[in-house]
Amino acid sequence: MAMQIGSGIFLSFFYNSDTEHAFNSVENLIMRNVRFGWFVRYLHVNVASFIFLFLYIHIGKALYYRSFTRKKLWFSGILIFVILMLTAFSGYVLVWGQMSLWAATVITNFFSSVPFIGSQLVEWIWGGFTVSKPTLSRFFSIHFLAGLFMGFLTIIHLLVLHEEGSSNPLGIKSKDNVNFSPLFLNKDLFWFFVFLFFLSYFVFFRPNAFAPSKLWKSKPFCYTKKYSSWMIFFTFLYYIKIYP
Ligand code: HEM
Repeated sequence: MAMQIGSGIFLSFFYNSDTEHAFNSVENLIMRNVRFGWFVRYLHVNVASFIFLFLYIHIGKALYYRSFTRKKLWFSGILIFVILMLTAFSGYVLVWGQMSLWAATVITNFFSSVPFIGSQLVEWIWGGFTVSKPTLSRFFSIHFLAGLFMGFLTIIHLLVLHEEGSSNPLGIKSKDNVNFSPLFLNKDLFWFFVFLFFLSYFVFFRPNAFAPSKLWKSKPFCYTKKYSSWMIFFTFLYYIKIYP
């Protein structure tokens, strides 16, 4: 999360949320003209994918050990997941490529199914009659704020965890706890360096492995036939499929 906030702040120095300039500010200014801009962007993109990967592993583990019985902890975790989806989705729209425009159109149209006020609600979210200038600038604000809020929520999640203490694989309640340092600290540091190794591989050698090219500028009058999704959005894709 710290990496996302750090790289995000640097990206926001150069990003332009006007529809005329957004795509160029990413693909031209950040990627080609700003020194190490490509590095900061690829860091931001790939860490976003890794966050989702680790989050799914974390949720899977929590389900396996029945951690959902700790209600406060579970609900703060769900809130993190939902806000993370909002953050990643709004970030994806910022690039203002063809996929960004149509992803924004499809996802925001979900709200049109709200009874009675659906269509007004969608136009209110768009700030117009289509996904356009006001939509992009508010998505930038949402992305910035939600991204920062994620850091705050993570701290809350940890504080709630500390109220009861961590569980253990045996599922027994015990006051005979082990200190975080040195055992867990060393273990976590070891895995953090393993993660940095994999992250470097993706950032330097396969930067678009999780994210198919977004190099087509958005064209509001041309719906794309070739549809490819970004790995972190597979959950969204399946939500769309089960959506009536
Ligand atoms: C958990 C936190 C965050 C996640 C998961 C996230 C995710 C993303 C994603 C997926 C993109 C699209 C990247 C691309 O294809 O280029 C993006 C773009 C962007 N993000 Fe974030 N972000 C987070 C936090 C932040 C924060 C805190 C800021 C600002 C302080 C920020 C600023 C930006 C900017 C300016 C862009 C547009 C430039 C670009 O596309 O490279 N992000 N973010």
